[in-house]
Order: sequence, then C-alpha cells, then structure tokens
Amino acid sequence: MSNVTPKTDSEIEGMREAGRLAAEVLDIIGPQVEVGMTTGELDRICHNHIVNVQKAIPAPLNYRGFPKSICTSVNEVICHGIPSDNKKLRNGDIVNIDVTVIKDSWHGDTSIMVGVGEVAPHAQRLVRITQECLYRALALVKPGAVLGDLGHVIQQHAEAHYYSVVKEYCGHGIGKAFHEEPQVLHYGKPGTGLRLEPGMTFTVEPMVNAGKRYTKLNARDGWTVTTRDGRLSAQWEHTIAVTESGCEVLTRRRDEILPF
Ligand code: MF3
Ligand code: CO
Ligand code: CO
Repeated sequence: MSNVTPKTDSEIEGMREAGRLAAEVLDIIGPQVEVGMTTGELDRICHNHIVNVQKAIPAPLNYRGFPKSICTSVNEVICHGIPSDNKKLRNGDIVNIDVTVIKDSWHGDTSIMVGVGEVAPHAQRLVRITQECLYRALALVKPGAVLGDLGHVIQQHAEAHYYSVVKEYCGHGIGKAFHEEPQVLHYGKPGTGLRLEPGMTFTVEPMVNAGKRYTKLNARDGWTVTTRDGRLSAQWEHTIAVTESGCEVLTRRRDEILPF
C-alpha cells in the first residue's frame, strides 16, 4: 500500500526532542496572545525563541516559498495563515498557532487554538469539539489499528455536532522530512487504510468547520486557506509515535493532560 518505514528507537529519540521543542514554543506563545497584538509579533517571538534559545530551525520559513516561521490562522482561516504586522488580533477572535521545529534534522509539528479576549460560546465550542476530535483519534492509536479508524472517529464526532471536516488537507508522516507518507485523512471508514506498527511517526491535525467543509485558497498569497462560506474553522495538531501498546504524544505540552 505504501512504504512507511517505522523509525528505530534512536530515531524516535531524535523526534522526541524536536517534538518537545515545538510544544515548548506553544507553551511560551499561548499565554502571550492578547487583544491588539499582531500575528507578525507572534511570529517574531516564536522565531527568536526557536533560533536563539532552542538553536533549532523554524521549518515553515522558506518551505516551498512560505515567508514566515509559523502559521497563524484566524477565525475563518482554516490553515497556512501568513503572520503579518497588519493583522491585529481582536476581542473574540480564535487563532490557530502552528509551529514546526527542526532539531538535529528531525521535525516536530504541533498546533493549538487560542482565544483572544472574550470568545463567544459557539466559537469556544467549535474549538473544544475539534480538540476532542484529535484526542479521540489519538486514543485509537496502537499496533494493528488502521488509519481509517482515526479518520472515522474524527468525522463522526465533528458531524455529530453539525460541523464539517476539511478534506483537502490532512495529517502526514513526519521525520527527517516535514511531510512524508502516509497521508492521514481526517475522515474515512473503520477497518480501512494503513495498518499501524510500532515506530511509525505521523501527525493528526483535524480542521473542523462550523459551516460547510469547502475551502478557498487565496490566489494573491498562494497560501491562506479559508472557509468558502466565511464561517469559523478550528484545528489542533500533534506529532505522535506508535508504541508497542499505544501512542506517545511527542508534542505534548507541559500543562496538557491527555484524556487517554
Ligand atoms: N505546519 C503545517 C502542517 O501541519 C504545514 C505548514 S506548511 C507552511 O503540516 F509552509 F505553511 F508552513
Ligand atoms: Co502537520
Ligand atoms: Co503543523
């Protein structure tokens, strides 16, 4: 089906450090998000921490021409938002901050949603249900499980709340390359797709829309993906390794309690 080579223990050790650093960036930036701040400022804070403190590389910078060090996706932006000094965060916004760090050639890729000021209950609910989609998928990860099981549980949980799942973008294998095989779809049928084995490393990063699933790519910048209907979208992402008994979340944040 595909040539997904499980990683050795020493390779996973490298992934563990990259994942820890990516999570640390989110631990640091999350509490600094404030009304009136720009996404350009968020980018600079993350960039400087990654380069100067972590002595690591922000993977997005110059990746296929991406111009900044992180992605910042506000409200109806689904993913790949480009940080800008002209983009001020306003009260009630929800923003996804997506950080990918390269350390000793290994990648760690993770994102969170942050609320700006006072966030409306309907937006908070979208954010929470999307994180639950991620956790429900990760709870299924173990040797013998298949990727379709993960996609199905994400889709089922989102749709049970009358949300929709974005189909054009997916999770991915990750290692010395940012994006490797396999593709990790956030929808699907149980019992189908790639069978998981210990040592596989990949991301799960569901994008869930409050309205319809359809996307629009900004033709001017070539990156920013928004909902077609202009309604809100949320995303959470972790990088994980399949273990002998389940799932190791390589990008777990210090304060994050995993419900599985
Ligand atoms: N971090 C994104 C992901 O989860 C990819 C961003 S590509 C970029 O796969 F070029 F926009 F940074
Ligand atoms: Co990713
Ligand atoms: Co990412």
